Amino acid sequence: MSTPSRVITLTLDDREVGAHTDQTILEVARENGIVIPTLCHLEGLLPIGACRICLVEVVGSNKLLPACATKVTDGMRVITQSERLTRYRRRVVEFLFASGNHICAVCVSNHHCELQDMAVYTGMSHLTEPYRYPKLRVDASHERFVQDDNRCILCQRCVRVCAEIEGAHTWDVMGRGIEARVITDLNQPWGESDTCTSCSKCVQVCPTGALSIKGMAAAEMKKRKHFLAQYWTLKEEES
Ligand code: SF4
Ligand code: SF4
Ligand code: FES
Repeated sequence: MSTPSRVITLTLDDREVGAHTDQTILEVARENGIVIPTLCHLEGLLPIGACRICLVEVVGSNKLLPACATKVTDGMRVITQSERLTRYRRRVVEFLFASGNHICAVCVSNHHCELQDMAVYTGMSHLTEPYRYPKLRVDASHERFVQDDNRCILCQRCVRVCAEIEGAHTWDVMGRGIEARVITDLNQPWGESDTCTSCSKCVQVCPTGALSIKGMAAAEMKKRKHFLAQYWTLKEEES
C-alpha cells in the first residue's frame, strides 16, 4: 500500500516553499517559477533520469541528484543554480554533441531542436573534447518516418510514449553505454515492425532530428507534443 502524500516545506535556492511528498524537485521548482533545464524529461511521461541535465545540489548529499526523478522531502535544501551546476550541465550537452553526429545545418530539426536550445542555454560555444564521429545507421524503411541514429541522444522519450501512451511497445534500447541504440521490435527495420501503428507519437516527442517525418527539408520539422496534455486531460475526465 502506498503512503499517502503529505504537505511539507523545503528550500529552493533560499526560498522556502510548500510541496507534497509525491512531487519531484522539478515539479515543485516549476510550480514556483524556477527554471531547471531538462532534456529526457517530458511532462506526461514517466521520468527516467537518463540525461542528467537537470542535476541539482541537495545540501547534505555529496552526489548531484536529477531533479526530474528525485522526490522532495521535508526540510530538504536544494540549490538549482550554481557555477558547479552550470559547468556540469554544459559538460552533459558537450558530451551529447561529441557522441553523435549533429550537423545542425543539414538537420531537419535545425532551429526546432531541444539539444540546440540546451547548447544555447548552457553557453556551449565549442567542444572541449574531441568528436567521436561514430558510424551510425539511418533507417528509412518506414513509409512515413525516418530514424537517424546520428541525431539520437538516447532520451528514450520514443520508448516511453510508444509504451505508456500508444501501448504499442515498438521501441526498446539495445546495448549499453555509448554503444546503446534505440531499436524497433527485435532490431528489425522500422518499416517491417508488426507492432507500430504509425501514430507518429514517437516522432512528435523526439527532441532532436533523430525521428522525423519523411519528405521534410532541413529546418522544417516542428514537433507537436500537445497530444500528451490532451491525453491526460481526457484520462482525468474519464476517471
Ligand atoms: S509511430 Fe506510434 S506505434 Fe509506431 S513506433 Fe512511433 S509511437 Fe510507436
Ligand atoms: S530517437 Fe529521439 S526520442 Fe528516441 S531516444 Fe533518440 S532522441 Fe530520444
Ligand atoms: S531531464 Fe532529468 S535526467 Fe534528463
